Amino acid sequence: MTDRQPSQPSIVTHRREIAPGLVTLRFRNERVARHTTAGQFVNVIPKRGFIDPMLRRPFSVYWTEGDEAEIIVQSHGRGTEILCNTREGEALDILGPLGRPWMFDSNDYMTAVLLIGGVGVASMPLLTRELERREVPVQTFYGARTSNLIAREHLKNLQLATDDGSEGFQGSNVALLRTFLEARRLEMPKIFACGPTGMMRAAQSLAAEFGIPCELSLETEMACGVGICQGCPVLNEERVFQRTGRKFRLVCTDGPSFQSDEIVL
Ligand SMILES: Cc1cc2nc3c(=O)[nH]c(=O)nc-3n(C[C@H](O)[C@H](O)[C@H](O)COP(=O)(O)OP(=O)(O)OC[C@H]3O[C@@H](n4cnc5c(N)ncnc54)[C@H](O)[C@@H]3O)c2cc1C
Ligand code: FES
Repeated sequence: MTDRQPSQPSIVTHRREIAPGLVTLRFRNERVARHTTAGQFVNVIPKRGFIDPMLRRPFSVYWTEGDEAEIIVQSHGRGTEILCNTREGEALDILGPLGRPWMFDSNDYMTAVLLIGGVGVASMPLLTRELERREVPVQTFYGARTSNLIAREHLKNLQLATDDGSEGFQGSNVALLRTFLEARRLEMPKIFACGPTGMMRAAQSLAAEFGIPCELSLETEMACGVGICQGCPVLNEERVFQRTGRKFRLVCTDGPSFQSDEIVL
């Protein structure tokens, strides 16, 4: 699927509130539903016809089934607040699928370790489905502030960590994963991580310390989503710069996921 497709009006068919300010929206959009691969995203105008906010907002594709797709939205600012309040029957303006998928077909691992922080869960259900189709064992380390902010649907082998200790390990999901790595409980792991910057940096260091492959899916601020505005740069590691001559890559078209040892956060 190219980035050059026009956007499509997409009727919301189902809205589910997981917690206040955290909802899933299912919408009808054949192109997104049929052509998204795990890790790709859509760029959304929160309400058709609205000019405030004017720019689209990016969201990972959370689930697809038939001609319908879903996103999960956490209220954060103006655009996400409007989206969270969308009602069934209203139309979103959706461009996508955009970006590159997770690199789940690499042959450098036997166990997929899904490391999730908060709404970073968004691209993990489709990744779990792809990995299950390939019969790759999956272990999921999901960290959230508190238990009712955990979106558990479509995930497998959940190890939970909450900041307030309301469920699972009290502390960070990275600290929990560390205990598994130290005890050698994961055979040839590769980390697929998405979450806040602090968690991503911790994942980057953990992967380097244990010498394991790691991919980070970045949730940088974006505008166009298709490589035109240059508004979503990520700094390349020195050796990538030496190899490619590129100081930066664009999260929207080169990512959103990158090998953790190739970028500077
Ligand atoms: C590839 C990708 C996938 C994403 N997937 C999801 C998803 O599935 N679910 C979801 O809820 N969110 C996701 N996000 C983040 C989401 O796009 C932002 O939260 C949203 O654009 C903020 O818009 P807003 O109008 O609510 O906030 P604004 O009113 O634009 O901004 C409010 C505040 O948040 C800051 N901000 C804006 N965007 C971001 C950002 N990306 N990261 C950190 N701070 C930001 C602004 O600087 C400002 O301080 C994703 C981002 C990317 C790049
Ligand atoms: S958002 Fe415009 S180039 Fe990436």
